[in-house]
Amino acid sequence: MATFSRRETLLGGAGVLGALAGNALARSQSPISSGTHSPIPFGAAVRPALLGSDADYTRAILTYCNQIVAEGGFLFVDLHPQRKEFRFDEADRVSAFALANGLGLRGHTLVWYGVMPPWTEEISSAAEAERELERHIETVVSRYGSSIRSWNVVNEALRDDAKRGSDLRPLIWQRRLGADYIAIALRAARATDPSAELVLNEYDIEFVGDRFRGKRAAFCELVHTLLDQGVPLDAIGLQGHLKGDLDIDKEGLGAFVSEMRKAGLKILVTELDVVDNQLPADLRMRDVEVALRAKDFLAAIAAEAPLSALLAWGISDRFTWVPMYFKRSDGLPNRPLPLDAEYKPKPLMQIVDRVRYGV
Ligand code: G3I
Repeated sequence: MATFSRRETLLGGAGVLGALAGNALARSQSPISSGTHSPIPFGAAVRPALLGSDADYTRAILTYCNQIVAEGGFLFVDLHPQRKEFRFDEADRVSAFALANGLGLRGHTLVWYGVMPPWTEEISSAAEAERELERHIETVVSRYGSSIRSWNVVNEALRDDAKRGSDLRPLIWQRRLGADYIAIALRAARATDPSAELVLNEYDIEFVGDRFRGKRAAFCELVHTLLDQGVPLDAIGLQGHLKGDLDIDKEGLGAFVSEMRKAGLKILVTELDVVDNQLPADLRMRDVEVALRAKDFLAAIAAEAPLSALLAWGISDRFTWVPMYFKRSDGLPNRPLPLDAEYKPKPLMQIVDRVRYGV
């Protein structure tokens, strides 16, 4: 079998992949430069329990990342499990680790429908909802101000089938306050820490297809509505949970990014990984397809705007959320992240490096 050089292939050489994935190779010729010479901060989501206790994992984080975000630990349910109880132990550990090691820390997340504690269902009026939402945000943002300079204030506000900015997911804040909950959350975060970066974080913005075109339009409309109302908002977070079986709409994504930039917003990639359950079993081929999907995504963004941060949703295939929802039918482990399960860099890490350094 021909010797396979991932680097050559990714950089446009004609390795074994040329025969296996001609279209992918063609895609790899497109430029990826962000046009900037200062490296883009790179980081990964971390699992609090592993930090400091799993030596290989901790070494990988310290070797590759200059910022981190907690995969869990800062969620509403983690920090505020009962109305009168805040629990900071996990989040404090992550914050202390970041400070001790000179890493940036992103906050994930002040508002998310995904994980809410049962007590919030007792909130019965708009006034009570506003009070509790503001209290949560003031408490959390003020506590971590020294380490967290960028917050996902609202995560995944839009419905999967959103076409308009008003197509919001139901969650307790939305049910009691309507669309105003987003402005209330952003204003509370800004009032508590005026210099922190405030981000709206979304997924499924980047693919080809009507549903994704609709969600891009909805996101644009939501953002413009907020900005027109004078609501503080600094940046858009594109999660970047890419799919091996869904093409990137480079033109549509580029136009979206360009519109956000014109609106004065920065762009972050906050949760990059590539769901590989539909990709070939062959490891080398799979790894390259994963890398090329990320390259398409990142190149489309970089063509329109400098990325102000790039974070993967985990550092190593050993610890990833992907098999919770996207196990492979052949039983092989998923490989969505920049390092493999043995902490060896994969082609995706090369793509990350090229984007970071604009080469
Ligand atoms: O740690 C416990 C473990 O002790 C226990 O044995 C096990 C049994 O279920 O659960 C483990 O916790 C799980 C945790 O992931 C492990 O990291 C939780 O049940 C599970 O709910 C949790 O899922 C997280 C999910 O959000 C929901 O909070 C994933 O890790 C996390 O990657 C995922 O992240 C989301 C982002 O926040 C938003 N964007 C999408 C992304 C992927 O779904």
